[in-house]
Amino acid sequence: MKHFLDIHTTDPKDLHGIIDQAKLMKQARQGRPKGMTDDDQPLAGRMVALIFEKPSTRTRVSFDVGVRQMGGQSMVLSGKDMQLGHGETIADTARVMSRYVDLIMIRTFDETVLQEMAEYASVPVINGLTDRSHPCQIMADIQTYEEHRGSIKGKKVVWAGDGNNVCASFLHAAAQFGFDLTFTGPAQLDPEEEYVGLARKAGSKVVIERDAFKAVEGADLVVADTWVSMHDSQSSKERRHNMLRPYQVNDELMSHAKSDALFMHCLPAHREEEVTSSVMDGPQSVIFDEAENRLHAQKAVMRWCLGV
Ligand code: CP
Ligand code: NVA
Repeated sequence: MKHFLDIHTTDPKDLHGIIDQAKLMKQARQGRPKGMTDDDQPLAGRMVALIFEKPSTRTRVSFDVGVRQMGGQSMVLSGKDMQLGHGETIADTARVMSRYVDLIMIRTFDETVLQEMAEYASVPVINGLTDRSHPCQIMADIQTYEEHRGSIKGKKVVWAGDGNNVCASFLHAAAQFGFDLTFTGPAQLDPEEEYVGLARKAGSKVVIERDAFKAVEGADLVVADTWVSMHDSQSSKERRHNMLRPYQVNDELMSHAKSDALFMHCLPAHREEEVTSSVMDGPQSVIFDEAENRLHAQKAVMRWCLGV
């Protein structure tokens, strides 16, 4: 069974293969209406369940469109409208869903929900974001980087802000794709030590630098994300904003990175908070390519899971 649960738990050869396929599938669709199905129909006759326990725009729409383009059918389910949200166990939900569908994508809070779903499902399970990681996003980000600048191997990626779930998947990817990562943010929001250790063990240089300007020196890619994630309490908002303000990505900060550095953000962004509009809409920003590549990368992930 090929679940896609995290980048560090997927074979690097498979990760590269998925990205190569995503690029090919993207090229094959150039200039075609978005609603037109792909020439080959790898998901013909397949049913995919997309379960959301948190809000989503990109993940929801890109998975749904991706399944349809590949000739399959999808259903978007809200966790709170399922018995899952009313006490039915994850294990029972996984076993029941497996009798109906060929593939499950789930966005949830605690990572153990995803793991239990994968343990008890008899069909592949894809991680559509947990409190701890967001692997599909980073597959799209690697594809995006490579389309603009070639291989990400040996490059310097700077993560500015909260060492959150998306940052964690960047650390997983650093280990698997061989790039270096500098984290710049307040000590209270450092990325998980386990993941820093994992990337270092794989040979990546991981640096924690409190001074954002020093951190971005020599950066090939600067990445930001929201200061308050969906799993963070709203009551922590003011405290987090106060801690994170020095790490805003703005024109001045970008001017200290390499002149051809790219800017990424998984979106949704809070303009003038973690990043200014001038950077988001500026020439170094590839944020909408990232959003588009969610579609292509996830189509390739689904094919890999199903072996089609
Ligand atoms: N980047 C991302 O996962 O966006 P959504 O929350 O809109 O799915
Ligand atoms: N870190 C953000 C990412 C959203 C796509 C969150 O978890 O809310």
